[in-house]
Amino acid sequence: MLRTHTCGELLADHVGQQVTLCGWVDTYRDHGGQLFVDLRDRYGKTQAVFTPERGDETLQQSKALRSEDVILIRGEVAGRPEGTVNPKLETGEVEVRVRHLEILNKSAPPPFQPGSVDLPGEDLRLKYRYIDLRRQKMQQTLLLRHRIIKSMRDYFDEQRFIEVETPMLGRSTPEGARDYLVPSRVVQGHFYALPQSPQLYKQILMVAGYDRYIQVARCFRDEDLRADRQPEFTQLDMEMSFVTAEDIIGMIDGLMVRLAKEILGLELKLPLPRMTYDEAMERFGHDAPDLRFGMELIDITDLAKEAEFRVFREVAQGGNRVRGMNVKGAASRYSRKDIDELTALIVENFGAKGLAWFKVEEGGTLAAPIAKNFSPELLAKIAQRMGAEPGDFLVFVADKFDVTCKALYALRKRFGVDLKLYDPNAMNFSWIVEFPMFAHDEEGGGWAAMHHPFTSPRPQDMAMLSTDPGKCRAVAYDLVINGSEAGGGTIRIHDQQIQQQVFGLLGIDQETARERFGFLLDALQFGAPPHGGIALGIDRVVMLFGKLENIRDAIAFPKTQRATDLMTGAPGEVDAKQLRELNIKVNKP
Ligand code: AMO
Ligand code: AMP
Repeated sequence: MLRTHTCGELLADHVGQQVTLCGWVDTYRDHGGQLFVDLRDRYGKTQAVFTPERGDETLQQSKALRSEDVILIRGEVAGRPEGTVNPKLETGEVEVRVRHLEILNKSAPPPFQPGSVDLPGEDLRLKYRYIDLRRQKMQQTLLLRHRIIKSMRDYFDEQRFIEVETPMLGRSTPEGARDYLVPSRVVQGHFYALPQSPQLYKQILMVAGYDRYIQVARCFRDEDLRADRQPEFTQLDMEMSFVTAEDIIGMIDGLMVRLAKEILGLELKLPLPRMTYDEAMERFGHDAPDLRFGMELIDITDLAKEAEFRVFREVAQGGNRVRGMNVKGAASRYSRKDIDELTALIVENFGAKGLAWFKVEEGGTLAAPIAKNFSPELLAKIAQRMGAEPGDFLVFVADKFDVTCKALYALRKRFGVDLKLYDPNAMNFSWIVEFPMFAHDEEGGGWAAMHHPFTSPRPQDMAMLSTDPGKCRAVAYDLVINGSEAGGGTIRIHDQQIQQQVFGLLGIDQETARERFGFLLDALQFGAPPHGGIALGIDRVVMLFGKLENIRDAIAFPKTQRATDLMTGAPGEVDAKQLRELNIKVNKP
């Protein structure tokens, strides 16, 4: 080793020792006769001092040092003089008085300083990712990610799971996103699809008898990116045989207890709370509700039926819904202009037709321009239903159930942030269960799988597959952390006939099913055990445990919102020769 210690190691106990450190020049301060350098590596920073007594030559040499130069220093550890101890630094009690300096590699002037408190623009951080990764925050995050993954692997290993790798070059698996395709050179005109998840392989592994499987698996989905989505992401993927949903949930509960304890020092109480999908939609308007705060949705459709206010009455009588929220004590917080903005938010994004609102005055009356359209009796009933008190702000959306969900969910989220309704350090874990099997397919008009096509209906709902598929509930469960979907899974169909029936409902005819999933249908005939599993989004778990705002900050080399890599320039053009070999011709847009 070139060095005897790291830059995060030297303490008062080391005073008097001769040491050698290597690292990057974080900051340097030239005090004429003396030069101070903060030397940095991933373990910390140590102050190095160059003085004339230790040799003029070294001091002269040190004057050439600049930010991010890589150097080696040799010298003696000394206690810092009275009044210069730095309590913010682990090594703040000592400094190294340098006798010998070697410049291992000069750095070009860096585009930004990793030690600086000001964060540069994200494009610059992504282009020079190696410099960004020198920042302490990024180092802490990558360490956190390592510890989370290690903890997951240890946990499952102790539970006798085995990790099996599955192929990257395979056939398309339907997780609902667009595939990334890889052309085959050997079989021209044919393509591999990168896995959207290892779903089918892990089911096949169950048929093969490996009853406890895990994998830290890379997944690829070409979909619209958001703050919590990447085109390439990592799952903790698991599958078990001879189990019920309870067993899978219990296994993940145990993992969460361990992660919370090891990573955050938190004691989680089990079982984690559970709510059905229907209840979540009623109470919060979303299947991944943020339970760090209350402010639940309240239904006033029955009262709205008699309203003089036409919008409410017509919507309620037309079989749709009028729902709202009581934003406690927020009447004075939102001006007319703010309310216009809230209205625009839900009208433009979710097709709501407006936002009806009241402010609760002293004495409890509901005041708003629309109040004149309501009888005082009805206003009093609405106030009572909403638990209204002076100073409260009441908001309502009248629309189809789905629109009221989306609009009120967005407003609730916004109020949560605006009014600081939760402790930013809180961690809230819950399960959402009993999802519908099917949702209306937005494009095709028929049914689409709510989770994926291999999900089993609840045994008691099996008959509804033929009579009323929309009402059929699945044995499906999502893990929600702080209002984010951290994981999702299901018990699978292990009966070939039922699998065929579900494919049929999804509009996948026998021939297509054969062509795309023939291997699964075959496997189901050769002794497939009952099985089920789940996948956790590791990047999201890191983001949530690390309190990061963006999924890109949880990944060493992430992609931009346009799915590009600013460091390597991927995706890029390829040689004409490569295209010829693949027999592919590109039509330039
Ligand atoms: P699902 O599609 O719900 O299930 O994915 C599981 C979890 O993976 C994470 N995730 C993502 N993270 C980052 N970027 C993305 N684009 C992205 N997409 C999903 C989420 C999600 O909860 N095969 C099934 C699992 C199973 O049934 O066992 C599956 O992939 O945290
Ligand atoms: P209007 O009668 O269209 O002028 O609307 C009066 C108020 O009711 C405005 O504040 C609108 O934003 C609101 N509003 C209109 N339609 C709806 C609706 N479907 N749900 C909730 N509020 C609405």
